[in-house]
Amino acid sequence: MKLNIALLAGDGIGPEVIEQAVKVSDAVAKKFGHEITWKPALTGAAAIDAVGEPYPDATHEICKNADAVLFGAIGHPKYDNDPSAKVRPEQGLLKMRKALGLFANVRPTFVFPSLIDKSPLKRERIEGTDLVILRELTGGIYFGEKGRRDGGETAFDNCVYTREEVQRLAKKGFELAMSRNKKLCCVDKANVLETSRLWRETVQAMEKDYPEVKVSYEFVDAVAMRLVQWPNSYDVLITENLFGDILTDEASVISGSMGLMPSASVGTENQLFEPIHGSYPQATGLNIANPMATVLSAAMMFEMAFDLQEEGAAIRNAVNKALAEGIVTEDLADGGKAYGTKEVGDWLAANI
Ligand code: IPM
Ligand code: MN
Repeated sequence: MKLNIALLAGDGIGPEVIEQAVKVSDAVAKKFGHEITWKPALTGAAAIDAVGEPYPDATHEICKNADAVLFGAIGHPKYDNDPSAKVRPEQGLLKMRKALGLFANVRPTFVFPSLIDKSPLKRERIEGTDLVILRELTGGIYFGEKGRRDGGETAFDNCVYTREEVQRLAKKGFELAMSRNKKLCCVDKANVLETSRLWRETVQAMEKDYPEVKVSYEFVDAVAMRLVQWPNSYDVLITENLFGDILTDEASVISGSMGLMPSASVGTENQLFEPIHGSYPQATGLNIANPMATVLSAAMMFEMAFDLQEEGAAIRNAVNKALAEGIVTEDLADGGKAYGTKEVGDWLAANI
């Protein structure tokens, strides 16, 4: 198969972890007889420095025409403490999500048996955890009208959802639940928010089309609590943009390291795969960042964008083996030998 993949390394540790995912993907392509064409493109602070904007048109063209996008991370400290900055790397991410129509963000949380004691939660709470949060990604408060009034003394961000936006996300949630344990939790704040009441009413109306799926409706504050109490009680959760942003960070540390969790953002035409972690600027160039989340994002890419299940499994097996054998970066080394980003990538590629 010919795979045409846009490669957006971005900022901070992005280029280093992307390099390992490329190495591992190339090893998979060689083993299974595929031909990957990588199309590098600029994004984030790196793109602002080069051409003055974080998601240039040239990058959009490359992403739009690719079969999939593999993304590193964006964000740079020089923008974080400057609320007056006119262009920010994160704007590139939001623009890209909107422009590519990536309305569903798929963020799995699962535990690796060999790392279970690294989790901040007790073993008995997390054993068996295997959940997916499906976050709406192109609507809600992130994209509603925002601004200032009263001479700048009052600020507002509107949260807006259409029924159609809720339906297309919920449909993915029901379908995903059907392929898993057939449990779906709609996370909202319907006791307070009108948009949440639209979410609940829309999902309720869809239940009859998926009679096998057991649907629950829970308030986001309660879910935040239950995620640390009984994460293994969940299967698929669907939620709006901001709730999803918060809950997916919370869920990502359950596995023991944020450096392990991959994600996908999908729409009708395009699909993008990226690690959940950020650009970790302090570690830039030090060869210490954990490349596994990006490598596992490449596994999701083989599986979801190309329906190449064995290829994805080959990557997952190599990662599991590395974890079991202690071929890990310092975040997981626990006082033992820590391998470099590159060395972990080389080991994974060699073990495909
Ligand atoms: C994420 C990030 C982004 C978001 C930021 C960088 C704009 O936190 O992908 O979760 O809030 O969506
Ligand atoms: Mn986030």
